[in-house]
Amino acid sequence: MIPMLKQIIGFSLRKLYLIEPLYHVKFLISQIQNKKDNNRFKHEYPHAVLPPDFILYESFGRLNYRRYYLNGKNSASYFISLFEKHISLDTKKICEWGCGPGRVIRHFPELLSSKHAEIFGTDYNKESIEWNKKNLPGINFHLNGLNPPLPFADNFFDALYSISVFTHLSEQSHYEWFSELIRVVKPGGILIISTHGDAFKEKLLPSEKKEYETKGLVIRKTQTEGKRTYAAFQSPDFMKKLIGKNTVLEHITNRDPNNKFTQDLWVVKKA
Ligand SMILES: C[S@@+](CC[C@H](N)C(=O)[O-])C[C@H]1O[C@@H](n2cnc3c(N)ncnc32)[C@H](O)[C@@H]1O
Repeated sequence: MIPMLKQIIGFSLRKLYLIEPLYHVKFLISQIQNKKDNNRFKHEYPHAVLPPDFILYESFGRLNYRRYYLNGKNSASYFISLFEKHISLDTKKICEWGCGPGRVIRHFPELLSSKHAEIFGTDYNKESIEWNKKNLPGINFHLNGLNPPLPFADNFFDALYSISVFTHLSEQSHYEWFSELIRVVKPGGILIISTHGDAFKEKLLPSEKKEYETKGLVIRKTQTEGKRTYAAFQSPDFMKKLIGKNTVLEHITNRDPNNKFTQDLWVVKKA
């Protein structure tokens, strides 16, 4: 009952274009709520450079430095282990598309220090990329547009991943960006994408649930595509169609006990 009430309030706020202004209020609340722990974290980890608060909040959805830093490190180790089940990362080119202020990719240089890999990060958020370039060494950062292309040649990367980016795109962008990510990955290279998946179905309104079951994709539009407030929910069938002739090596649902992640993961080998 209470969760459905939350969805109905969310739906009404979206209709009234109030979601984005309210997001700024939630940010201020989060800043106050996390102040004590954030100060403790800065004391415990004096060498951990942190992005400006709003950039961190916008990409992570909560303003907790400890979780940004330590969850980011755990996710980086997890993604490396997922890639290494299928390819060696020795001397390879690896990219995160939609890297935000580097929560995950920032840990790759240290975690892959013995592998001589080349590491890249791209995002359409100019402030994030500018901050990353100044503060996170050992990674090649690039700005891309809301729409493709990426500034890379065909078949450039051996491994590419994207965390919680498709979850904020329009339907058209799903098709365009999936093709673009495939374009820049080598044949036989690995692409990992996160999506909301079936567990998030519970968060949908009855009409949205119906659309999820019939069409496989639900888009909750707000003013700005790509922002956290703009949400997309993809069913496994929709993802299989999107992935097309490429091979699904693993579909790790967010209910899988081995999934150390909150969203579904699609591990895909380029045909
Ligand atoms: C929820 S945040 C996740 C950030 C990061 N992947 C992480 O896990 O911390 C979504 C990110 O996708 C980025 N994004 C949204 N649309 C994009 C696009 N068309 N191209 C590149 N990045 C995009 C946003 O700027 C934001 O950094």
